[in-house]
Amino acid sequence: MKELDTDIACIRLANTHVISVTSPEIAREFLKKHDAVFASSPVTMATEYSSRGFLTIAVVPWGDQWKKMRKVMASEIITAARLRSLLDKRTEEVDNLVRFIYNQCKSNSGSSAVINLRLAARQCTGNVIRKMLFNRSYFGEGRKDGDPGYEEVEYIESVFTVLRHLYSFILSDYLPWLRPLDLEGHGKIVSEAMKVLNGYNDPLIDKRVKEWKDGKRKEPEDLLDAFILAKDSEGKPALSEMMFATLDNPSNAAEWAMAEMINQPEILQKATEEIERVVGNQRWVQESDIPRLNYVKSCAREAFRIHPISPFNLPHVSMPMPSFLATSSPKAAMFCLDGCIEEVDLTETELRFISFSTGRRGCMGVALGSAMTVMVLARLIQGFSWRVPSNEANIDLSVSENDLFMAKPLHAMAKPRLPGEQLYPPY
Ligand code: HEM
Repeated sequence: MKELDTDIACIRLANTHVISVTSPEIAREFLKKHDAVFASSPVTMATEYSSRGFLTIAVVPWGDQWKKMRKVMASEIITAARLRSLLDKRTEEVDNLVRFIYNQCKSNSGSSAVINLRLAARQCTGNVIRKMLFNRSYFGEGRKDGDPGYEEVEYIESVFTVLRHLYSFILSDYLPWLRPLDLEGHGKIVSEAMKVLNGYNDPLIDKRVKEWKDGKRKEPEDLLDAFILAKDSEGKPALSEMMFATLDNPSNAAEWAMAEMINQPEILQKATEEIERVVGNQRWVQESDIPRLNYVKSCAREAFRIHPISPFNLPHVSMPMPSFLATSSPKAAMFCLDGCIEEVDLTETELRFISFSTGRRGCMGVALGSAMTVMVLARLIQGFSWRVPSNEANIDLSVSENDLFMAKPLHAMAKPRLPGEQLYPPY
């Protein structure tokens, strides 16, 4: 778009007009004023495979299935009461994040260690949603030191493989008769990744469905129970989509925010001071502290602003004439925050940057996604002092060539900063 020197372009690919928009004003025109027209989603190979034939929400074209699932999700799955009832599970997993990092510091024959923060953040968000869905942190045996097992690493990699391919360009999405040839090989990659995910999810789902049928369960304990009680085709497709929706954004924002702040220690210092002021150093930051952590929230918001998870929002399709709309926003260059910030939240309904989007297809997980993002970031900042590893001058902020993640997973030197070992969760 920059090369074409335009904010809006229309490219014809086979019978589809792909309209891409990079200005917030025009994005608002489409997603607010003409929201009803552009409320559908494109049918692509990867969205079909990842949703078991469009049984979910986010990738489903406008119609009865989308309406039904959106209603079920809003009224029975992620209600405020349900999220409150699952708070302890989320807290256990952010405790586990602290434990995971702390143990690496301790086992490194001293008090500090270089931590792979991408791994830590992704595993933490994966654990949070796994705990909320299945009431368990591990698929396999699990490990007491907070480390992910082989199964969890494989699972998260498969989630990111599917996400990477959801809307990546392949010819057969525009010329469907080419799909059986799988020219780019994406069909095989997505099928294999989905096989891995379903291989972990389905036995748990089947077992649980049976427990309900046999009357062994009386009260819903987690989101899987909620899905089963809502009678959503036993929850299988929708569960996978919840994993997709929940994992990438919070972990990516936390990784980028930490990278930017480690390079600008004065920002990291201000965020640390805010947590000291609001929470102190005798207990861990909790979700109930979030309303008063405006500076930390601004750091997360800034990460969304300058490091969106993808160049474009999820594509929208117009009805009845099929045009394919991709909206983006100008990417800002600098991670900058001023000192006085009031009542911050992570949404951006004016579409100046992509966060949760807006309108009929707007994100359904604003409360949960915001809480997860802020909690991961706040626990990292509260629990440890962070600096650039000694063999590097700065954190390398290069962006990957294939997507908008950091080119290399963030590695940084951590040192426990709270007084008293007893505060760190034992193992
Ligand atoms: C920081 C975390 C998150 C961010 C930044 C985010 C962002 C987004 C964005 C940009 C969209 C597309 C909106 C559009 O098409 O215009 C979306 C859709 C969606 N998100 Fe999220 N999301 C997050 C977390 C979550 C969580 C935790 C859930 C689940 C509980 C969730 C559920 C959904 C659903 C179901 C949709 C599809 C809505 C529809 O098509 O009707 N998201 N999200």
